[in-house]
Amino acid sequence: MATILDGKIVAETIQAGLVQEIASCKARTGRVPGLDVIIVGSDPASQAYVKSKEKLAQKLGLRSSLIELPASATDSELLATITRLNDDPQTDAILVQLPLPAGLDTWRALDAIAPGKDVDCFNPVSQGMILLNRSAIFPCTPAGILRILDHYSLDIAGLNAAVIGRSFIVGKPMSLMLSNRHATVTLCHSKARDLERVLRQADIIVAAIGKPGFVTPAMVKPGAILIDVGINHVADGALIESFHYEPWRTSFAKKGFALVGDIHPGAFNASSYYTPVPGGVGALTPTMLMVNTLELFKQRLHA
Ligand SMILES: NC(=O)c1ccc[n+]([C@@H]2O[C@H](COP(=O)([O-])OP(=O)(O)OC[C@H]3O[C@@H](n4cnc5c(N)ncnc54)[C@H](OP(=O)(O)O)[C@@H]3O)[C@@H](O)[C@H]2O)c1
Repeated sequence: MATILDGKIVAETIQAGLVQEIASCKARTGRVPGLDVIIVGSDPASQAYVKSKEKLAQKLGLRSSLIELPASATDSELLATITRLNDDPQTDAILVQLPLPAGLDTWRALDAIAPGKDVDCFNPVSQGMILLNRSAIFPCTPAGILRILDHYSLDIAGLNAAVIGRSFIVGKPMSLMLSNRHATVTLCHSKARDLERVLRQADIIVAAIGKPGFVTPAMVKPGAILIDVGINHVADGALIESFHYEPWRTSFAKKGFALVGDIHPGAFNASSYYTPVPGGVGALTPTMLMVNTLELFKQRLHA
């Protein structure tokens, strides 16, 4: 029977360690690590994300602040805010909430964040350090996935890994991080030919596509480890019913929608381990932001 990789348990374990470490940093240096989040505009999903990050930071004893710019903000205004935080000795970690409103230049903003304060690891310098396996911090979602594997003592050295999706947020850094852990990695995308054959050879699949139930049971090698990054808001009852998966049915019955993964739950039975949605990878991502904030603080203060 397949084992569930429970992201909530892993997150709670990490958070317990963070509380202690943050308290000990405070005792040693007289201050706590600080995370400053910039949000532009009032997109409800982004607002909800930043509020939940702030709440978690406070729960763990970090200082956090939210800087809100109007949707009408210009590139120059956003850059001026980032520069101010780059220069502020109280700021250890800077996050620009994505996506930015249309018209703003995402790369200009990410390029402007000082690499030593780049908590999301989306700056080109940070991504280059991941490529070279020289980085102390990693983008939160793939970093959380490695923590899950570690928590369950899953050694991936020598395994065939298939990562589906090549965003700079998940898929690309994930492929490098798995390679740095000595997996043999295939990075797949929408132009991949014969994706099913690639997936069927994979001992571990990381699905980060954004398509509900995309990875079907027929695509999965028996005994594979399945890591589902996808978070798809599905309000189509017939689609949800087609997955025959109780957690999604229950969510739909209660809320009129379910957050559905990229992996068809029918594939779980044949797997050795799998992350559920929700309660798998997504449960780790905000916690890894706090891990990164602490690490940047320690690097900056040599604490
Ligand atoms: N759990 C978390 O904490 C977390 C964090 C971030 C994202 N997510 C979720 O993860 C999913 C992916 O998000 P993202 O931002 O990483 O990716 P993204 O920027 O939305 O890009 C999707 C990727 O999937 C690939 N793709 C699309 N259709 C495909 C197909 N038919 N076959 C193979 N590849 C295909 C695309 O290929 P091309 O490059 O060729 O277009 C692209 O690389 C979303 O559901 C998102 O909500 C979850």
